[in-house]
Amino acid sequence: MIFGVLTGGGDSPGINAATRAIVLTAIDKGHKVIGIRDGWMGLIKNRTFKLDARQVSGILDESGTILCTSRTNPYKIKDGQERILATLAKKKIDFLIPIGGDDTLGVAHKLAAHGLKAVGIPQTIDNDIAETDYSIGFDSAINFVMQALDRLHATAHSHSRIIVAEVMGRDAGWLALLGGVAGGADAILIPEVRFNIDDIGNQIRDIHKKGKRFALIAVAEGALPEGSIEQVSKIGEKDEFGHVILGGIGDWVAEEIRKKTGYETRSVILGHLQRGGSPTAFDRDLATRYGVSAVKGCLSGKFDTMVSLKGHKMVYVPLEKALRKNRVVDLKRFSETEYFMKMSARDVR
Ligand code: F6P
Repeated sequence: MIFGVLTGGGDSPGINAATRAIVLTAIDKGHKVIGIRDGWMGLIKNRTFKLDARQVSGILDESGTILCTSRTNPYKIKDGQERILATLAKKKIDFLIPIGGDDTLGVAHKLAAHGLKAVGIPQTIDNDIAETDYSIGFDSAINFVMQALDRLHATAHSHSRIIVAEVMGRDAGWLALLGGVAGGADAILIPEVRFNIDDIGNQIRDIHKKGKRFALIAVAEGALPEGSIEQVSKIGEKDEFGHVILGGIGDWVAEEIRKKTGYETRSVILGHLQRGGSPTAFDRDLATRYGVSAVKGCLSGKFDTMVSLKGHKMVYVPLEKALRKNRVVDLKRFSETEYFMKMSARDVR
C-alpha cells in the first residue's frame, strides 16, 4: 500500500514527530510513503517526493514541517478537487494522512465523499479542534507563552509597568488562558468572553492599591471589547478559508489602560514565535502516538476520521463530528480563572 502525508494550515511544533512516526510505522508494516509538499497545493500541483527512514531521521526535535505547509483551499481553485483526485490516482496513493486544523481536515472530509481514504491528525497551537483533548503543538505553545510571561514579569516588576502580551487564538482562548495562568497573568482576555476595558482598568488600579505596582495582561488576538463587532486586524486581509489575519488588539488594550490609569504601559505581540522552538516531551509523545495510530487506522479502514486523545486513550472520531463546531473555553472554567486572578492580587512582593 502507498500512504500519502501532507500538512496544512499554520504549522506547530510536533508535526515532524508525527511525520516520522507515520513513515517508520508504515515502512515497518511493509508499505511505502509519499510526502506531499505545501498542503493541498502539493496535490493540486503534483509536488510529491518519496519519504523513507533517512528523510525522517533527526527531525523529532525540530519545529516546522519538513513537508512545508500552506493555507490552500482547493475549492477556491479551478478544478481543485479533480486535480487532487487525479494526483492521488497518478501516484497510486491508497491512503492519505492530512495533518492540520479544521480547515485542512474539512477538505479531507469533503473529499471522503469522492472516495478519499483518509485518517487525519489534529494539529494547531490554538487547540480549538473539537473531539480531542489535545492537538499537536498546543503544549509547546503554552510553554512558550509561559516562558515569555516569566520574562515579562521580571521587567514589568523592575520598571513598575503594565505589560500586555498578545498571544495567538482566533476563536478560542486556550493559549491565553493556560499560558496566562502558568505565567502568572493578572488579567486574561479571550475571544469567548467580551471584555469591558473600564473593568480591566479598574482591576489594574485595584492591584496597584493593594501594593503591587506592576501587572501582566494576556490577550488572545481574537478577543473583543464589549460593543465591538470586528476582531482587530492590522493587515485587514483574509486567507483562502475566509479568516481575517488578526493582530493589534494588544496595542489597543495597552493604550486604553495607559489612558485610563495613567500607569506606564507596554505591549508585545508574541506572534509566530509561538509556533517555533523544539516541541515539548508531551507534544513529541502525542505526535508519535497520533502518527502510529493514523497508519493503523488506515490499515483497518477507519476512513473519514481523525485520531484523537480522550483522557489517556487514542480513539478515532468521525470528521463530521469533530468539525461540527470549534473547541472553545467554557465559561465556568474562565470564571474560575478570573476568580483566582482577582484574589491572587493580594500576593504582593
Ligand atoms: O492556525 C492557527 C493560528 O496560529 C491562529 O491562532 C492565527 O490566527 C493564525 O494561525 C495565524 O496564521 P498565519 O501564520 O497564516 O498568519
